[in-house]
Amino acid sequence: MTDTDKTQDRVVIFDTTLRDGEQSPGATMTHAEKLEIAGLLDDMGVDIIEAGFPIASEGDFNAVTEIAKNAQNSVICGLARAQFGDIDRCWEAVKHASQPRIHTFIGTSPLHRAIPNLTKDEMAERIEQTVTHARNLCDNVQWSPMDATRTEIDYLYRVVEIAIKAGATTINIPDTVGYTAPRESADLIAKLIENVPGADEVIFATHCHNDLGMATANSLAAVEAGARQIECTINGLGERAGNTALEEVVMALKVRNDIMPFRTGIDSTKIMNISRRVATVSGFPVQFNKAIVGKNAFAHESGIHQDGMLKNAETFEIMRPEDVGLSATNLVMGKHSGRAALRSKLEELGFELGDNQLKDVFVRFKALADRKKEIYEDDLIALMRTATDPEEDRIKLVSMRVVCGTDGPQQADMVLDIDGTEHKTTQTGDGPVDASFNCIKALVDHSARLQLYQVHAVTEGTDAQATVSVRMEEDGRIVTGQSADTDTVVASTRAYIHALNRLLVRREKTGSDKREVSYKDVS
Ligand code: KIV
Ligand code: ZN
Repeated sequence: MTDTDKTQDRVVIFDTTLRDGEQSPGATMTHAEKLEIAGLLDDMGVDIIEAGFPIASEGDFNAVTEIAKNAQNSVICGLARAQFGDIDRCWEAVKHASQPRIHTFIGTSPLHRAIPNLTKDEMAERIEQTVTHARNLCDNVQWSPMDATRTEIDYLYRVVEIAIKAGATTINIPDTVGYTAPRESADLIAKLIENVPGADEVIFATHCHNDLGMATANSLAAVEAGARQIECTINGLGERAGNTALEEVVMALKVRNDIMPFRTGIDSTKIMNISRRVATVSGFPVQFNKAIVGKNAFAHESGIHQDGMLKNAETFEIMRPEDVGLSATNLVMGKHSGRAALRSKLEELGFELGDNQLKDVFVRFKALADRKKEIYEDDLIALMRTATDPEEDRIKLVSMRVVCGTDGPQQADMVLDIDGTEHKTTQTGDGPVDASFNCIKALVDHSARLQLYQVHAVTEGTDAQATVSVRMEEDGRIVTGQSADTDTVVASTRAYIHALNRLLVRREKTGSDKREVSYKDVS
């Protein structure tokens, strides 16, 4: 199936995890991670991968270029503003794919027209010129009127017609700010198909953000009205409240095929695997009650539900865990399991590890197995959440000890290895976590502000691991860090250090700060 196949019941899946998803603050992925995710998307049957925004940075350009070279089945698409330079740069990157696509866009609503200060006529002319330019380079061109759902309908008809005449093969209708509602989303697509000359020669796409929690519903309503491409991301990753989640539309179309008779080319059994990888590499954990991929999506707690499940799984499950790639057994390993078994179990869970990473994970696995009798899949996934390569981390936790209790202040002693040299300090704080974070602040000079601190228990029992996520901001750069440990304070400290290590990488990448990690030696 190609993306221009217009079989009535086939819906094209356009994944933008690596572009729109990666745009969410703090979700930056490394080059290798982007390549890995693109490989998984290609393998699961995604029709079109939007691999990045080539003009945005050298890194984006290189990632799109390499993804284009490696793609096996998917169309590889790059994003470009309505400017010749953007479009040329995009083509330079995607042209290596056997099936390239250029996606060019401009904001058409009154609010967005005001930014470049273009009149309606001037913007119409710009659209005509840029789509023509893109089409002269590539015969597969997608055009988007950004903020379409807040654009005057007559103007939308006019510019969509211009884009079609100029050679666009897909017209994407973005609900950029997640403002529309299902009935309105359907109406808009139906009206465009009915009123725009040439509409029957192109595919209409829907691209919905989730600000009001209606993205998936809006996308499916658009399909019922005639759209045949859904734009989405894994885990719904994306700016603000995110995008339509790939796993939700795919499973909704599968489970409710009786009322929505459309099909996708996605192998749904690969969903869980890629969801976990995206959560790990983006640093955005999946909320527990998230549809399809949340930890509780197939969990049954109450006695009535458990009883029903034992008698007939269909009583409380509308799809089987295996349909999304969840294995039935969760209990996996114990302290006697070896390195090869760990590698193979992690591969089964979707984690490909280099030898150094495996070495580090194995040490942490053994330490965990000493403290915790039973290791579940969720424990291993939590262990993998400290995603950076320990060999490359510039700041490492060597040791820590905390004194806590009813009589404060609480106190932490800490030794950190910073660029190969050990530094130690003792600090107090309002609780053990605060005291530990004060140690890090005392040793590593930074101005990052902690924006979010979250703790979750991975499994049950008092020996359960805690996963900790932190989000920090420094000079507009947002980074996240995660870690897991049976000791909540250690997990918190490692998560903070993980985020700081990412911040150092970001500082280096943006070239805005090449200084050594400076530290205050307070030992
Ligand atoms: O949300 C949006 O409008 C976009 C466009 C670039 C298509 O992501
Ligand atoms: Zn978007």
